Amino acid sequence: MSIQKEIKRVTVHTLRRMKESGQKISMLTAYDYSMAKALDEAGIEVLLVGDSASNVMAGHETTLPITLDQMIYHAGSVIRAINRALVVVDLPFGTYQGNSKKALASAIRIMKESGAHAVKLEGGLSVKDSIKRILSAGVPVMGHLGLTPQSIYKFGTYTVRAKSSDEAAQLKQDALLLQDLGCFAIVIEKVPSALAAEVASTIDIPIIGIGAGPNVDGQVLVTHDMLGITKEFRPRFLRVYANMYDDMKKAAISYLTDVKSGDFPNDKEQY
Ligand code: KIV
Repeated sequence: MSIQKEIKRVTVHTLRRMKESGQKISMLTAYDYSMAKALDEAGIEVLLVGDSASNVMAGHETTLPITLDQMIYHAGSVIRAINRALVVVDLPFGTYQGNSKKALASAIRIMKESGAHAVKLEGGLSVKDSIKRILSAGVPVMGHLGLTPQSIYKFGTYTVRAKSSDEAAQLKQDALLLQDLGCFAIVIEKVPSALAAEVASTIDIPIIGIGAGPNVDGQVLVTHDMLGITKEFRPRFLRVYANMYDDMKKAAISYLTDVKSGDFPNDKEQY
């Protein structure tokens, strides 16, 4: 029987065991009750309440505007839906950088007010103190290296990261640091596959890739992108599994047509 069938709740230890036994980890984003319920029932091991909610739920151009209160609202909705998945919540921009006490207070608010199981934050050495302090309170931390969307204005583009040997060396150092600090896993976003594979094979904690090739310990996608709800975002690494934007629009047009024609509601659809 696979680990997926044997376990009840997915924990940070489950993920480590999955890496050790060579079982791939599946992770998707979730921001609301109904979608989280479907993803959890499907058997996805990790649900990420990503700050990509800023883009796909709120329509902002970047992840920067979303607030801690808004993340807690999304996380609470996801937590109420799940029976099995590990729920990880992004610490939003401005709630952990450069101030470890503030970082701990932000993480504690997420854990207390939403019931989530872990937090994720972006960066390596630059956020070392924040990670240490959050971990010291017993809150599991997932790292995030490579393309870090909260630093978009520093880099100016969303292109592939760590293509130069200097940047690649920095990423490897940061991954080791995150492991040594005690992070339970790391998301590595949009870097050359060979680099991600090297990191995954040299460190013990699970590496979850997005645009980082197949030779890592698991994959994550933004659910709205893989379901085809967002139509404008089509990076090379994305596989689209449904066309829900078109399906929603078609359903809305059918409803509109039925309302206008008087076809809805019919005799059976009334009291
Ligand atoms: O916010 C998010 O959705 C993320 C994923 C892209 C990993 O951080």
